[in-house]
Amino acid sequence: MADLILGVQWGDEGKGKIVDALAKDYDYIVRANGGSNAGHTIVADGKKISTHLIPSGILYDSCKNVIGSGVVFDADILKQELSEIIADVRLEDRLFISENAHIVLNIYKELDAAKDKIQGIGTTKRGIGISYAMKCLRDGIRVRDLRSPNLSKKLENIINFIAPILKEAKLKVPDIGKLEKELLSHRKFLDEYTTNTTELLWKAQDDDKRILLEGAQGSMLDIDYGTYPYVTSSNTLSSGLIHGSGLNIKDSEKIIGVAKAYCTRVGNGVFPTEDFGSDGDKLRDNGFEYGATTGRPRRCGWIDVVALRYAVRLNGCTEIALMKLDVLDKFEEVKVCTHYEINGEIYDTYDGETENVKPVYKIYKGWKKTLSARNYDDLPEEAKDYVEDLEELIGCKISIISTSPNREDLIHR
Ligand code: IMP
Repeated sequence: MADLILGVQWGDEGKGKIVDALAKDYDYIVRANGGSNAGHTIVADGKKISTHLIPSGILYDSCKNVIGSGVVFDADILKQELSEIIADVRLEDRLFISENAHIVLNIYKELDAAKDKIQGIGTTKRGIGISYAMKCLRDGIRVRDLRSPNLSKKLENIINFIAPILKEAKLKVPDIGKLEKELLSHRKFLDEYTTNTTELLWKAQDDDKRILLEGAQGSMLDIDYGTYPYVTSSNTLSSGLIHGSGLNIKDSEKIIGVAKAYCTRVGNGVFPTEDFGSDGDKLRDNGFEYGATTGRPRRCGWIDVVALRYAVRLNGCTEIALMKLDVLDKFEEVKVCTHYEINGEIYDTYDGETENVKPVYKIYKGWKKTLSARNYDDLPEEAKDYVEDLEELIGCKISIISTSPNREDLIHR
């Protein structure tokens, strides 16, 4: 069986801390979707690292780490993470990359940046959308294609297709021979890690190993169910993680949705509870809300229960980890969006409408301090009221509460 940990807002919910807290209980940690647009901060044994691609179990010697078939994979970034960020970590028999994962070509990053200038999604410029588009056009380059005698032909197809767009965007059309050489330069190091990860995970299941799938981005950024078109280009939901790993729907056990006690978003698109005033600034300052991948200040606002209920249902969450409760300390009042008002009508569900959405708030009395609390009973009554009411409104048990960035500051309920 496998457990899943995934973000249920717009990404950056603090999944890293929860994966870090739970990783040692698992034999396999799997990244199954997205690419280097994700930024994961992992702290283990006093060591803090930020990675984009490597699964979060890498610092636990007993964990095997898998990059699954649903990932679009930037070989330069992985190489850099392996050689710089975790240079002293033992990798032998601990890192496995699916031969079906698609490779992000460097030109896709340039194209992503040029397209986003016009489209205005506010992407991470990591070539994610272009890579998934090429995959869906059946012109993608998979890790296994580096061994194909037809690699050059495949690259030619890609370049012929995108050349007019590159010219229009005033980007240099890459030389196919050079591109092939560049890709083949990754082959030797990739050969060490590439395998049939689907069979690897099936075998792990047969041997009763414990598997954790770690999500990237958040539910509201899902390509099919998020705030389209302001979304990423992968399936970020539990179904997407199962799909991208090669497991099947009967295999999932716990599905832990990770949410902040407030809400943030990077990039553009609807964000009904965004606070443009001093409360938003205070949330950003208290919560150090700056993007891990791009350094951009995050947009900040109050927790959105309408979106959360939707995400919990879509994912089939069995529990919620509520992060950064301490960031709400010392607010006079804390707000929870319980409904949307759209063109004068009140809604308690999200149905994809992104225009003219106004939040309807329930106001809670603030509290002084939850920072570093490790027992539920140590929380102020007002904070407990907030948590218990949220649980009721979302319709899902809040089983973990995080009260500081430190790995030990967690409440288990
Ligand atoms: P892309 O995934 O780079 O194409 O970006 C599409 C949208 O998803 C943009 O609004 C990004 O800011 C957002 N996004 C992508 N990855 C993350 C993430 O890891 N955390 C938060 N937002 C993300």
